[in-house]
Amino acid sequence: METETAQNPESKPDQSVILEVSGQTAILRLGTPNERYVTITPRRMETFEQALDKIESNPSLQGLVIIGSGPGLFCNGADINQISGVTDVAIAKGLASRGQGLFQRVASLKCTTVAAVSGACVGGGYELALACDYRIAANISEVKVGLPEIKLGIIPGFGGSVRLPRLLGLPAALDIILKGRMLPAKRGLKAGLVDEVVEVEGSADKGYSALEAKACEIASGRHTPRRKPIAFGEKILTFTGIGRKMVANKALAQVHKTTGGHYPAPPRAVEVATKALSMNVVPALDMEAQALAELIVTPESKSLVHLFFLTDEAGKRWKSLQDEVSQAKAAVLGAGTMGAGIAASLLSSGVEVLLVDLDSKARERAEAHIEDSLGKRFKYEPDKAKSSLAKLSIEGTIDSINDVEIVIEAIVEKLDVKKRVFGQLASLLPDTAVLASNTSSLPISEIASDLSHPERVIGMHFFNPAEKMPLVEIVRSSVTDQRSIAFTAALASKLGKYPVVVEEVPGFLVNRILSPYLAEAAWALGDGYSITDIDKAAVRFGMPMGPLRLLDEVGLDVAAHVAEIMSSSYGSRMETPPFTAKLASLGRLGRKSGKGFYVYNGKEGTPDSELSQLLELPDHPTAGSPAELQDRLILSMVNEAVRCFDEGVAGTPCRESAGQIDLATVMGTGFAPFRGGIMHYAERVGARDILTRLERLEKQHGFRFTPAMGIKARAAGSGGSFYEPIEGSSTMQ
Ligand code: NAI
Repeated sequence: METETAQNPESKPDQSVILEVSGQTAILRLGTPNERYVTITPRRMETFEQALDKIESNPSLQGLVIIGSGPGLFCNGADINQISGVTDVAIAKGLASRGQGLFQRVASLKCTTVAAVSGACVGGGYELALACDYRIAANISEVKVGLPEIKLGIIPGFGGSVRLPRLLGLPAALDIILKGRMLPAKRGLKAGLVDEVVEVEGSADKGYSALEAKACEIASGRHTPRRKPIAFGEKILTFTGIGRKMVANKALAQVHKTTGGHYPAPPRAVEVATKALSMNVVPALDMEAQALAELIVTPESKSLVHLFFLTDEAGKRWKSLQDEVSQAKAAVLGAGTMGAGIAASLLSSGVEVLLVDLDSKARERAEAHIEDSLGKRFKYEPDKAKSSLAKLSIEGTIDSINDVEIVIEAIVEKLDVKKRVFGQLASLLPDTAVLASNTSSLPISEIASDLSHPERVIGMHFFNPAEKMPLVEIVRSSVTDQRSIAFTAALASKLGKYPVVVEEVPGFLVNRILSPYLAEAAWALGDGYSITDIDKAAVRFGMPMGPLRLLDEVGLDVAAHVAEIMSSSYGSRMETPPFTAKLASLGRLGRKSGKGFYVYNGKEGTPDSELSQLLELPDHPTAGSPAELQDRLILSMVNEAVRCFDEGVAGTPCRESAGQIDLATVMGTGFAPFRGGIMHYAERVGARDILTRLERLEKQHGFRFTPAMGIKARAAGSGGSFYEPIEGSSTMQ
């Protein structure tokens, strides 16, 4: 067998694209075995091109297998670091055209080509597989196939938008592209993304060999996979002009409904995938490259790429304790709304859980909730749910907690009760056990103040519903030790959440930033704006729901309590008009009681027309425009976020802590992802513009809008960055 590295004569050999020729079959191995992601770098492309020169010039070759260099590997597509810095459409188009050119050469090879997938085969990696005649995958958990580009604000641009609709039919291809789907092997087979799945028995190495052997069989013509055919109806919808028009119109309407028109990539994907079907491949690829290039430079794509790096980094950051956490057993104290949700999340990640509540009814409700959640939320089959539930025990006394590595307390929000309970826990557990509280408002140092080992007490603040919400604030007191922080954050990571470490200021990070926004919605109501005007202003900005709807979801009793804490902690800038408290006192608690700002007959709820009279609100706003209303809501959050950054609430002010605030605002408040988080938004708008707008609002509405010192300082002189500390100050108020 002849083995060679396709080599650039002017540089060191690239060991990550290896061509092996054995008789009439060639194997191209991608990546190096110790690589976490196999990405397509310019250098790798060059080596790939040289390998193709050799393949094209070998007329005796009958087949080519493209495979990762070892078990668990294939190709993750373009290096996102390389696209993140591109700001020029012509450069972006050049990059896309080069990738397309490479894959078009694969597609044009005379020999039979097979992509053999035993790892991530996504984005450009899957577009490479699409350029092959066949795609097969090992049935192992590392395999995922699909096109996630839309999540980065772009479209598949290495041929995916052109080839996938031809392979699957337009409706099915758009479903994959618009949702950015990545599927495991078996589901990939069902969807038609792969043609055959190779069952793997024994070790990973054996599985890899079996995959390679099957691919060689196909490449040499000894076996032909049975491809999923496009159904007759789908063919009509794909290969006739009128069918495509129908599919495109439906997809565009759906895209508009789900994105509110904020994301340019999805409609462009519909346009390219649809038009490409009526064109030859080469001009269709050119259209695809142009669309990709124009999307790469959009602010929406830059924001989504920024978020991609933040989430990717969050996943890696606490990996070192992952093994320790994997073995851990956890207790959850309190089986109410939060405790039951936290217990379900823990079980879904394989953690053994002891759930304790004094109240037998709460225990019963929690058990039913967890069972329901495993089935509905986590989509467990009955067998899997049963084995998960075997890891749950439920007890009625705190004394049953004795051999766990962490307790997460989620009982009533009262300091004296929590202090007493933490005293009991400290006496029941070894000093190494972490004692975490899910408190949403109480200082961790107060909860720990009577304990002899306060360094292991920490806040682990989940959001409601705990199974769904992706953020966990890890709240440290001034004495919480690094191990407890790392352990708690690693556990949150294991649950698939994004942990953000914050200081124990009132409201922590997320509720502190949200509070002035929620208060401002109430002020606007008092100024005569309608519920619809106010919520629409926020949704138009890109928030997932308006502030008044959010208050209804949180519960007006809870919201009024938090508002009280925030205004007594931060003073007049967080004061709120008494509307929420008044509605709560009338038993209108929001969605849970069927009435709040909205009335809930159906799922959506409608603004309550009686509210104006009930709260004695003016009929119309006395002044102000929709833009001003939006500024009132959004800039009140920006102002507070900048204060949090400069005070070091998410860590010493630096690029990384600003990123943590971005992550927390997107994952905890739903802050428009296409704006990249609140600091990213502030950075894009610029300190001077924000200052001018806040000063205008201050004139109109008073001290609530007094610009933070950090905004003034950054706007002064040359205008500083919101990702850097203010010169000459480490933290400021
Ligand atoms: P909940 O009232 O639904 O549940 C509390 C449970 O704790 C009850 O079942 C009660 O029987 C039990 N309990 C009380 N004292 C106990 C003790 N000494 N030992 C064992 N069990 C005891 O309350 P929820 O909403 O679940 O809140 C729990 C904690 O989570 C609070 O600290 C709250 O501030 C916090 N939180 C609540 C959020 C929410 O949206 N509900 C969001 C984030 C945090």
